[in-house]
Amino acid sequence: MNIIDKNYFVKINQQTFIDYGQILSKVNIVNFYNSLNHLSSEETKKHSDEFKTPPVYSTVITGTGSAVPEHILTNEDLEKILDTSDQWITERTGMKERRIAKPEEAASDFAFCAAQNALADANVKPEEIDLIIVATVTGDMPFPSTACILQHRLGATKAAAMDLSAGCSGFIYALVTAHQFISTGTYKTILVVGVEVLSKITDWTDRSTAVLLADGAGAAVLRATPDPDRGIIATYLAADGSHGKDLYMPAGGSAIPASIESVQKRLHYLKMNGSAIFKVAVRSMSDVVKRLMERARIATEDIALIIPHQANLRIIEAMAKMLNFPMSRIFVNIQKYANTSSASTIIALDEARRSGRIRVNDLVIMVAFGAGLTWGGVLLRF
Ligand SMILES: CC(C)(COP(=O)(O)OP(=O)(O)OC[C@H]1O[C@@H](n2cnc3c(N)ncnc32)[C@H](O)[C@@H]1OP(=O)(O)O)[C@@H](O)C(=O)NCCC(=O)NCCS
Repeated sequence: MNIIDKNYFVKINQQTFIDYGQILSKVNIVNFYNSLNHLSSEETKKHSDEFKTPPVYSTVITGTGSAVPEHILTNEDLEKILDTSDQWITERTGMKERRIAKPEEAASDFAFCAAQNALADANVKPEEIDLIIVATVTGDMPFPSTACILQHRLGATKAAAMDLSAGCSGFIYALVTAHQFISTGTYKTILVVGVEVLSKITDWTDRSTAVLLADGAGAAVLRATPDPDRGIIATYLAADGSHGKDLYMPAGGSAIPASIESVQKRLHYLKMNGSAIFKVAVRSMSDVVKRLMERARIATEDIALIIPHQANLRIIEAMAKMLNFPMSRIFVNIQKYANTSSASTIIALDEARRSGRIRVNDLVIMVAFGAGLTWGGVLLRF
């Protein structure tokens, strides 16, 4: 449909904001907004009330890249330093090996390599980037942001830059944030990076966390397109701060600054209540997928691939069971990389794209949960 008459527009108005993605896929968006000129002021007001900041452009991922440390730490290696076993780690988590950074390597090193790969894949030059968002909880230092360090290293001289902290949901939160800038027409080209060097905040004497955490980075180049049938179709973000202390690093901020005491008490390491997180993770990720399907009015059969946060294979399998969704259409690479937090979903997306698991026109859901607690997801058409 190319031209929207007044009656059709009023009919659209009676639908909820949730229907917006559906409407976008059916109408020519330029004509949709041109049609506003033919409306009475009352109808226009009704439109602006219901649609708040309506998207002008769709957000497409035109390139992805990833980078992980060279050093591979296997379950057998962990057996030598912790009271654990390959059997326990494999059965309880699905993890077999993970990548660990060298002492001299920092988040920006992996972010830089991943970003270069994504830019090459998208055929975009650093000077074309309008904004860089780096999702991380293990940036190079508290400030300046890792995004600013990356901006300088890439030579992305025209880009604004900021870090975003949302635990393992970081890349999803960053993707949704970038989508706001693109859909409103503010920016055309955004680089979104998820990077972690969790090994540097891991307590290597704590077997309940040390076997799970790892290092790596992934990056995506997002661009604006007027094509309403491609790119991000639906998004959902949520948080529940009441569970904050189920997954946190107590010291190093303004609450408990670094001191001899904070170091002696091992407060600069990640602490986790694994079983509490497990339950919330299964519930929240299933809920996100359901909400995205409802918002886009699609069924499970329409989804080509779900790319979940790689925290525990049992969490992913429990989510699949709750959704009655086949594991064959869920992307899993946890056996190779373990939990890389903010980097996990984008490393997985990059691998899925490069290995041919995603084809043109496929509907893909990315979903994650993490410290905060936070959770969220994005539905995209490639
Ligand atoms: C952490 C996690 C793997 C633990 O698995 P679990 O099946 O819940 O195991 P439990 O915590 O109940 O521990 C069971 C036993 O295994 C032991 N254990 C814990 N870690 C172990 C390890 N690495 N090796 C061997 N035994 C271990 C525990 O001490 C406990 O022993 P006990 O029964 O004698 O007390 C699981 O809870 C999990 O994945 N939670 C979510 C974590 C997460 O996603 N975090 C990141 C969020 S983004």
